[in-house]
Amino acid sequence: MKRGALSIALAAFVMSVPASAEEAQSFSHDQIATGAELYAVNCSPCHGARMQDPGAAFNLRKFPPGQRERFVNSVIHGKNQMPPWGDFFDPEQLEALWAYIMAGER
Ligand code: HEC
Repeated sequence: MKRGALSIALAAFVMSVPASAEEAQSFSHDQIATGAELYAVNCSPCHGARMQDPGAAFNLRKFPPGQRERFVNSVIHGKNQMPPWGDFFDPEQLEALWAYIMAGER
């Protein structure tokens, strides 16, 4: 009985994952929440609150899911008008930002 309920919950969860999540990454709630906070403070002035209304900056909702390395690289080294963050974020914080951008608003 319990088992059945669990697999129904699991199936519902799997079906709710958007098709673009083929790279099958899973992020914890904490990670996404941490990323959301870091984003709100550091990134939203240019990329828009909740990644809406990015203006001239990149629309992060459209960032390709498979390109985590490109993400980390662009954040650390910057890109054109995007400032380089260097070691401002530790690896865990970068991962949290990535989690938020991949999963936070979708
Ligand atoms: C001062 C404004 C500004 C801030 C602050 C800023 N960005 Fe950006 N960001 C930009 C602009 C402008 C671009 C477009 C760069 C281009 O392609 O010319 C960009 C592009 C990007 C890209 C795409 C780079 C690529 O590989 O094409 C990512 C990812 C990104 N920003 C993440 C972040 C994150 C995460 C933060 C917060 C830690 C942040 N940005 C903060 C202005 C900003």
